[in-house]
Amino acid sequence: MDMTQRKKDAEQLKSYAIELQRNNKELEDFAFIASHDLQEPLRKITTFGDRLIEKTVDLDEHSRDYIERMGKSARRMKRFIEDLLLYSKVTTKQKPFELVDLEKKVKTVCEEMDHIIHSTHAVVNISNLPTIEGDNNQIHQLIVNLIFNSFKYKSEGKPPIINIFGKKKENNYWEISIQDNGIGFDEKYADRIFKPFQRLHGRSKYEGSGLGLTICKKIVERHNGTISALSKPGVGTTFILTLPEKQPPIH
Ligand SMILES: Nc1ncnc2c1ncn2[C@@H]1O[C@H](COP(=O)(O)OP(=O)(O)OP(=O)(O)O)[C@@H](O)[C@H]1O
Ligand SMILES: [Mg+2]
Repeated sequence: MDMTQRKKDAEQLKSYAIELQRNNKELEDFAFIASHDLQEPLRKITTFGDRLIEKTVDLDEHSRDYIERMGKSARRMKRFIEDLLLYSKVTTKQKPFELVDLEKKVKTVCEEMDHIIHSTHAVVNISNLPTIEGDNNQIHQLIVNLIFNSFKYKSEGKPPIINIFGKKKENNYWEISIQDNGIGFDEKYADRIFKPFQRLHGRSKYEGSGLGLTICKKIVERHNGTISALSKPGVGTTFILTLPEKQPPIH
């Protein structure tokens, strides 16, 4: 192949990459605007449904049940939209990286969950967590989603024990584990749970949109890291993050 052809190919590739990037950005913007604008009409459905129940004295049992079910569905949809919005914000509302002390971050998140920690007699052990470069709000969100899952999927009749620890790897990377003694799941689903709306446990018992871990994955990938899970039913689950201590320079 001569040099001119090679140069032509390289230019073509570059223009494809730019086009792809633009399409991606448009899609992200669309998701953000759509989920934001869907909130208002939904709020109206809930408000007027509630008002109808309050104001109508002679509502028969069936009609009341229908309106209540409508309200319940609208509230579930609200959760979906809020989570979709959160998901799209990972790319549309980015903040520059700064130093984030992970030990402090985990402690802050635990303080926010003080109530659930006390009521379940949970123990959270923290050790060897580093300070890394990251988007402070996104790292917060990541830790909240993971710790909250450990509480949500706890085993019945035994207090949750959550171990959060770091291990320094070579080449600037840290491995951070979030380990629980909850209900666990069959490890063959370990990849599936990071996909949108994928849930392994029943909706009637565990509420949620199935976007929590999808958001975690997106956050970790923006930080040039990885996330994976190990689990055993009835024994517990460990989420493993690999994250760089220092971010590579932006090109
Ligand atoms: N610590 C855990 N122990 C056991 N199962 C888990 C754990 N974390 C996640 N899962 C399983 O993975 C599924 C996906 O988790 P994810 O956090 O994405 O969604 P969710 O918790 O169902 O809803 P939400 O969007 O509110 O977080 C869960 O429905 C659950 O079946
Ligand atoms: Mg969750």
